[in-house]
Amino acid sequence: MRKIVIAGNWKMNSSVEFVNELVSGLLPISASKNNIDIVFCPPSLYVAQVVEKLAGSTVRTGVQNIYPEPKGAFTGEISADMAKDIGATYVIIGHSERRQFFGETDESVAKKTSATLKTGLIPIVCVGESLAEREAGKLETIISNQVSKGLFHLDPTEMKKVIVAYEPVWAIGTGKTASPEQAQEVHAFIRKILSDKFGADVSQKVVIQYGGSVNDKNAQDLLGQKDIDGALVGGASLKVDAFGDILNIANNISK
Ligand code: PGA
Repeated sequence: MRKIVIAGNWKMNSSVEFVNELVSGLLPISASKNNIDIVFCPPSLYVAQVVEKLAGSTVRTGVQNIYPEPKGAFTGEISADMAKDIGATYVIIGHSERRQFFGETDESVAKKTSATLKTGLIPIVCVGESLAEREAGKLETIISNQVSKGLFHLDPTEMKKVIVAYEPVWAIGTGKTASPEQAQEVHAFIRKILSDKFGADVSQKVVIQYGGSVNDKNAQDLLGQKDIDGALVGGASLKVDAFGDILNIANNISK
C-alpha cells in the first residue's frame, strides 16, 4: 500500500502576503485529509514562514533544490542540512526547469539525492522526456537513463525512501497533460526499471508522482491509475480552490 503524496511546487512565486493568504486558505482544507501526505514547496526564502504557519498541522514543507555539500564556500546555494534545520521535510531534485535552465545533470541529481537521504529528508526526484524525444521514439531510453543514472547508486533501503516524479517536459506549464493511460504506461515502466534493479518489494513501495498541468479537472483520472501515487502540482498549487479540490479528490481515492 502506497500513500498518495500531493506536493505543490510553487516555483519562483511568492511574497510574504501571498504565502499568508495561500497557506491560510489551504490549512483548513488540508486538516481533514488523513489518507494522503501533503507538501508545500515554496521558494527557499519563504520556507521558514511556511513552516511556522504550518506548525501543528500534518502538512509538510519542501525545498525546490539543494546543493549536495552540507556547508561551505558555495555562494547562493542552500544545503539539505539547512533545509532540515529550518523545518523542511522534502527536497525536489532534478526538476526539468533546473535541468533546462541551470545545467542540472543526472550526475548532480545522483549527488543531491544521496545528500538529501543522508540528512534524513525525502527526495522527490523528477524525470521526464521532451516532446521531441517522445516523438523520436526515445521515451524509454530517456526515462531509463535518468532513473538509472540518478538512482541506481542507492541501496534498496535508500531507494524505498525516494519519491519519483514523472513529469513529461511537454506537459509542464503548458496546459497539455499526458492522458491517464500515457502516464500510467510510463509509471509502470519506471516501476519495472526499479523492480529489475532493486527487486519487486522495493519497487512496490516507491511512490511515483505524476506532474505536468495537473489540475482539479484531471486529477481524478490521473490519480485513479494503478501506478500513479500522487502529483507534483505547479500552477494549480498556487490557487486555494484548485489545489483544495485536488486534495479532496486525492483523499477520496483509496488504492
Ligand atoms: P505545472 O508544473 O503543474 O504548472 O505544469 C508542474 C511542475 O513543474 O512540477
